[in-house]
Amino acid sequence: MHSSLVTTTLPRPVMRPRRMRFSPAIRRLVRETTLSPADFIYPLFVRHGVEQRAPIRSMPGISQLSVDQLAGEAREIAALGIPAVILFGIPAAKDATGSDNYSADGIVPQAIRAIKDAAPDLLVISDMCFCEYTDHGHCGIINQPGQPHFQSALPEGYLLNDPTLDLLGRASVVHAQAGADIIAPSGMVDGMVAAIRSGLDGAGYQHVAVMSYAVKYASAFYGPFRDAAESPPQFGDRSQYQMDPANSREAIKEASIDVAEGADVLMVKPALPYLDILSAVRSTFNLPTAAYQVSGEYAMLHAAAANGWLDLRRSALESLTAIKRAGADMVVTYFAKDAAQWLEEE
Ligand code: PBG
Repeated sequence: MHSSLVTTTLPRPVMRPRRMRFSPAIRRLVRETTLSPADFIYPLFVRHGVEQRAPIRSMPGISQLSVDQLAGEAREIAALGIPAVILFGIPAAKDATGSDNYSADGIVPQAIRAIKDAAPDLLVISDMCFCEYTDHGHCGIINQPGQPHFQSALPEGYLLNDPTLDLLGRASVVHAQAGADIIAPSGMVDGMVAAIRSGLDGAGYQHVAVMSYAVKYASAFYGPFRDAAESPPQFGDRSQYQMDPANSREAIKEASIDVAEGADVLMVKPALPYLDILSAVRSTFNLPTAAYQVSGEYAMLHAAAANGWLDLRRSALESLTAIKRAGADMVVTYFAKDAAQWLEEE
């Protein structure tokens, strides 16, 4: 006996969770969350002009595309098994009311038609907001002396809620007429879901769904997007309509209002810094839940990978898995195409 070498008589573990991690096969067997290309929604930035593929500096691999480029792009996305795209438009000209957004020949209606012609089964979601179309870069009509709807009781520069609702309803019908399957209001304007629902229903588009950016924070992580969409506010910021990052009870309030107004899908945005919110929204409501992994989340991983500090593929797939684990049924992500390819290789 070499019992003199045994320095302790601690009991051996009865529970050994490592058994379930012993081999790749057993890890696969007990895996609780899996990713599939069917989980992804791919954002597309559509610009004016022809034969344009303008790379976005802060979002490696992502470009603004002109309408003629969309057919090929749509077929490629569909072939990867990605079920949906979400569209953002960069119009040739901007004005005070963002009229390109509700013109039948606006950049997004053109894009919707091009995609639907090329890949009819690819779902087209149109991001419904005015910041990309207004010259001031805010998400609706702004209170300005001399402009229609001016209200002297409100400060100059304030985003006018109810006049914006009328335009959201109108633009949603125009996008539905062009063939959009889903309208996704992202402006955090009070009553936006009801206004869009009644606009759509009144025009015979009861079958077009509303995916509400129900819980959208005033986040620094949208930085690269504002380059991409050329939509930074020309004055002030969005804190009077987007949520304060410090709040979580308010997220449930926002989401419950959108449920009552008829939202079909609830979205939380950004994703990774807000997994607690995502989880709460998912467990409180019985609606499909989406998360938006935003431009800054994408740019962060790319920047670290470019420095050799992170493995892009592993960190991206891990982030997407975490977002799903927290409760997302679907994820809007700039990684959609890459991730679909990575998953195929695995
Ligand atoms: C508004 C909108 C924004 C994003 C999606 N829709 C920008 C904003 O609110 O400032 C951000 C998306 C991203 O950062 O990837 N139309």
